[in-house]
Amino acid sequence: MKILVLGSGGREDALVWKISQSPLVSKIYCAPGNGGICSREKTECLPFKTEDVSKLADFALKEKVDLTVVGPEAPLVAGIADLFEQKGLKVFGPKRAGARLEGSKVFAKDFMERYGIPTAFHKTFEDSRVARDYALDNLPLVVKADGLAGGKGAIVCKTKEEAEKAIERIMVRKEFGPSGERVVIEEFLEGEEATFMILTDGNRVIALPPAQDHKAVFDGDKGPNTGGMGAYAPAPVVDEERKKEIIEKIVKPTLDGLEREGIDYRGCLYFGLMLTKRGPCVLEFNCRFGDPEIQPLVMLMESDIVPFLKGAADGKLKGEIKWKEGAAVCVIMASGGYPGRYEKGKEIKGLDEVSKMKDVVVFNAGVSRENGILKTAGGRVLAVTARADNLKQAIGLAYQAVDKISFENEHHRTDIGRKALK
Ligand code: AMP
Ligand code: GLY
Repeated sequence: MKILVLGSGGREDALVWKISQSPLVSKIYCAPGNGGICSREKTECLPFKTEDVSKLADFALKEKVDLTVVGPEAPLVAGIADLFEQKGLKVFGPKRAGARLEGSKVFAKDFMERYGIPTAFHKTFEDSRVARDYALDNLPLVVKADGLAGGKGAIVCKTKEEAEKAIERIMVRKEFGPSGERVVIEEFLEGEEATFMILTDGNRVIALPPAQDHKAVFDGDKGPNTGGMGAYAPAPVVDEERKKEIIEKIVKPTLDGLEREGIDYRGCLYFGLMLTKRGPCVLEFNCRFGDPEIQPLVMLMESDIVPFLKGAADGKLKGEIKWKEGAAVCVIMASGGYPGRYEKGKEIKGLDEVSKMKDVVVFNAGVSRENGILKTAGGRVLAVTARADNLKQAIGLAYQAVDKISFENEHHRTDIGRKALK
């Protein structure tokens, strides 16, 4: 089989790494990929952006690509799966109608209301003054840009000043562009967060082990939200009983809702959950694998991933995924300044030594290669991932690897996974 992976981050490298181990696969293309992804086995990076949808489709047809796996949300929300399907190409990832669960917070909230899926109480606003008046009377709360914002469009506000500033940034200054034309303002929920991802072909569901992301930039969940500073799996806060509750109260009604609305959803559906006193509530849906949650999960996956990706795309999801015992942890090494402004082009050192470590894989996120030298090229640079017999050992191993790697102004959280040890 020939597989095309779209995207350029740590998630895509994790997918390429896992797919490359499949005996079913002879060739992997990754567009645009990055300076690290192109050195994975069987892999070639292509000079196309994920927005170059027609060029990508032409390429896939010409090269007889058997399956395209879409990493990030933006091309799905823009309808890449619709166009590929029209051309007879197979895609892992939902069409535009399904991707709206992530592409519009207003749609997602209304959908949850229609199908009784537990979530935070919310109101939608199009006028910044009305939003402001409401916010000042209902603190603490969360202000969310309606559209895509790279994981940075949800702002938790505890004070009047924070609420005013959030509305100003999203609706008036339009920091997230047209994504901020409408906002959802929702009740602040207290609890622990968890990521619950499923694979689906529209009918069958395979749940992945629950994971936990660390969205805030600094230790102790302090500072602004990022795309995710580290993750681990499995997350013990989601025990068997909770898992059943999540499937009954959240996953099933979501899939029933999709079916009722005539939405044929094929791919990964990500439930971002808050485990509250009144039970699990949905904070957000994502229409693709979590980044960095998929990094520890691919290291725990014993089975070949390809039949499952292909099965979901074909509407013929079969069998069960086998998982390794133990736990895996991913620590993000980021550029100083991220999620705000940061510099690029810093040489990354120490990777050779880490490549000799057993059960450690460094996934390439924001990197480029210049004259054979790997350099920083993004906010989240590396996703250093380790697997071990238990979480404590996996954390230890991941940080041993992190300690061997360096670049100027590098920063990472030192407490990834620690919450689960308590
Ligand atoms: P979202 O993009 O909607 O997942 O929000 C990003 C992050 O903001 C979440 O991972 C939470 O940490 C936080 N968050 C979002 N909604 C809420 C809420 N209703 N209550 C508390 N925290 C929230
Ligand atoms: N790690 C959160 C996300 O992928 O949206």
